[in-house]
Amino acid sequence: MDKILIEGGRPLHGTIRVSGAKNAALPLIAATLLCPGEHTLYNVPDLRDIRTMLRLLETLGATYHYPEPHTLKINSDGVQGFEASYDLVKTMRASVLVLGPLLARLRRARVSLPGGCAIGARPINFHMQGLQKLGAELELEAGYVDAVVKKRLQGGTIYFDVPSVTGTENMLMAAALAQGTTLIKNAAKEPEIGNLVDMLTAMGAQISGRDTDMLTIQGVDELQPAATTIIADRIETGTYIAAVGTAGGEVTLSHCNPRHLPSFLEKMRAVGLSIEEHDSSIVAARSGPIKSVDVKTMPYPGFPTDLQAQIMALMTCSTGLSVIDETIFENRFMHVAELHRMGADIRVEGGRAIVSGTGRLSGAPVMATDLRASASLVVAGLAAEGVTTISRVYHLDRGYERLDEKLQKVGACIRREKE
Ligand code: EPU
Repeated sequence: MDKILIEGGRPLHGTIRVSGAKNAALPLIAATLLCPGEHTLYNVPDLRDIRTMLRLLETLGATYHYPEPHTLKINSDGVQGFEASYDLVKTMRASVLVLGPLLARLRRARVSLPGGCAIGARPINFHMQGLQKLGAELELEAGYVDAVVKKRLQGGTIYFDVPSVTGTENMLMAAALAQGTTLIKNAAKEPEIGNLVDMLTAMGAQISGRDTDMLTIQGVDELQPAATTIIADRIETGTYIAAVGTAGGEVTLSHCNPRHLPSFLEKMRAVGLSIEEHDSSIVAARSGPIKSVDVKTMPYPGFPTDLQAQIMALMTCSTGLSVIDETIFENRFMHVAELHRMGADIRVEGGRAIVSGTGRLSGAPVMATDLRASASLVVAGLAAEGVTTISRVYHLDRGYERLDEKLQKVGACIRREKE
């Protein structure tokens, strides 16, 4: 197992190239199950979660290769398997994304229930209820959802109580091949869903309402493989901007999309960063002190829960009071106890964290507990006096491509060692 060591206090200068988005690549890889043939995905990030998803596709009968780095070709001619095992689903909840496409193509899917995880209970009841609305018969048996469709999925109306990202993606993929029209009301509007809509449309699906909370899918009889480019990772982009916040300096984030970070960039300006937005890059700089701001996580275009831990790390470096409300997941404050070890003053009351900025952190041995919690420890470590040692770095490798190398290139004193 690897650990990461950071010596804080060095401002960052230079350019970081943003990778393709993990949370866009995962559903797009699942979508290749919808029809036989060779599918091409460009700008695929090299991450542990992507490798897990590809392993799952292989168990279902697909094959894949990379003709060049970040270009992925998946051939799903041989897909006959319909089971996502507990072993795979427990390591990556996004495995549940195969449910919709397998039911649409094979009319059968057996997917393990994911169980709880480090950030909350995260049930999949919306996915299950949505598929039932489209005519699937579902049974829960031995920890698995066993789903069967007698003839073909039928269009229907799905209403999400709360907009669900992967729930919306599963419904889109299932409805693309259903008979008749499907309406998804209160759909999630995250940019990753737009990326999936573009891929499905290129495959021949008929979808309207992209980027709105009401998606209409006119089912088609057949889809064909297509080539699609994965959008830039907005959470990776935001994480490096938060790092400029704690470390100081000026960094250009290239190959990103500033339009996908509306609320986050406004918060960063309120924190006192200078943010220049260009067509496909952002220049982020900090010269003055960090101001405290309040944050409330919300579905897109609100402040992303996936950047909550990172902005909390930034707030510990201010000298004011910041109130952070986490409204998406009930247990997403695992980073707080680790930030305490670095000298942060944070009080948690239910879904609210109250950060009293101490203006300084000190390096300490800390442990990564989930992906974004680990990222917040890196952001904090860049500002801390002394050395921060982050263990269990495999969490970070699930969703950040070569994070230590990218930060090293812009002047951070960061290295990876075997534990
Ligand atoms: N929910 C239910 N029932 C469901 C589905 C969701 O109650 O069947 C609830 C959740 O518990 C949560 C809310 O609805 O309170 C929204 O959850 P959502 O379904 O949108 O989350 P997700 O699709 O499981 C994706 C990302 C997460 C990200 C969330 C929120 C992927 C693969 N994962 O998860 O990413 O935090 O949306 O934006 O797209 C990460 O990358 O670190 C990560 C956790």
